[in-house]
Amino acid sequence: MEIRTVGIVGCGLMGSGIAQVTATAGLPTTVVEASQELCDRGLSNLSKRLERLVEKGSLPAEQKAAIQGRLRGTTDTAQLSNCDLVIEAIIENLEEKLKLWRSLDGIVKPEAILASNTSSVSITQMMMAVRRPERFLGMHFFNPVPVMELVEVVKTLVTDPQVYETDVEFTRQLGKTPVRTTDRPGFIVNRLVIPYMLDAIRALEEGVGSIPDIDRSMKLGCGHPMGPFILLDFIGLDTTYYIANILFEEFHEARFAPPGLLKRLVASGRLGRKSGKGFYDYSDPGAPKPLDQFQPL
Ligand SMILES: NC(=O)c1ccc[n+]([C@@H]2O[C@H](COP(=O)([O-])OP(=O)(O)OC[C@H]3O[C@@H](n4cnc5c(N)ncnc54)[C@H](O)[C@@H]3O)[C@@H](O)[C@H]2O)c1
Repeated sequence: MEIRTVGIVGCGLMGSGIAQVTATAGLPTTVVEASQELCDRGLSNLSKRLERLVEKGSLPAEQKAAIQGRLRGTTDTAQLSNCDLVIEAIIENLEEKLKLWRSLDGIVKPEAILASNTSSVSITQMMMAVRRPERFLGMHFFNPVPVMELVEVVKTLVTDPQVYETDVEFTRQLGKTPVRTTDRPGFIVNRLVIPYMLDAIRALEEGVGSIPDIDRSMKLGCGHPMGPFILLDFIGLDTTYYIANILFEEFHEARFAPPGLLKRLVASGRLGRKSGKGFYDYSDPGAPKPLDQFQPL
């Protein structure tokens, strides 16, 4: 089976990034949003990103027009009926996702592949909402989608091997690098990176080092592109807290338990970059300042 047309539900941060990548790879792409306003906003963010590429000289202006010509925005899921692949990128809420999949199952053609971009909802639970669970899988893209190369392709106990291989190959056609993984919470990346970031918070709580020194240590001592606190602020403290709880619920291991400081920061509305403050204060975005009250030394 060849994937020639793509549908994407949700045109937020991830959905608009995925749409940019599929349309850039030459595929007619239909995005569905909850309202026309949100749809316009998602596509306008996508257009601004393309414009920046044109300004930098990395995308010819006529290609920008061609990419945009392949994109269609709508609020009507019926427009997805003929898509070969539908990728869901709506909010991380199980009930909303199940409701959407139940309705899409009756709309999208039976031979289409269905994929969720979820970070933490069980693919297995979602696939049970459709009558073709063997054609259901996870495609976990990373933020920012046009820049990050990795896609975790997630199979369940019943994913048809041919469907899975078609999707792995399709991921390569998008210019991404697929990795194969199974439906366990956190897949590969979050399973490893969440306990690492939680440990950095515990180290801070115990006075092992300051925020900038812990960040500096992992950058200069381990060659990481950024330290754990900058990374936490980038991902979002609420998102990290949420995923840590899901991992803890599944594995019951102390390393996945969210530390008290993370819980208090989230409860105080300090969610990282998106709220202007997390472990750093981003009032001056070019020079983030570590929050003083968390310096143990
Ligand atoms: N943000 C990340 O770093 C990241 C990384 C990997 C995966 N994900 C996953 O991607 C998904 C989307 O995350 P996001 O960060 O783009 O969220 P977001 O809030 O930026 O976007 C979600 C969009 O879905 C829309 N939406 C909600 N219900 C809808 C419906 N029924 N029909 C159509 N549109 C609907 C919302 O209006 C919103 O624009 C989540 O499952 C998340 O776990 C996020």
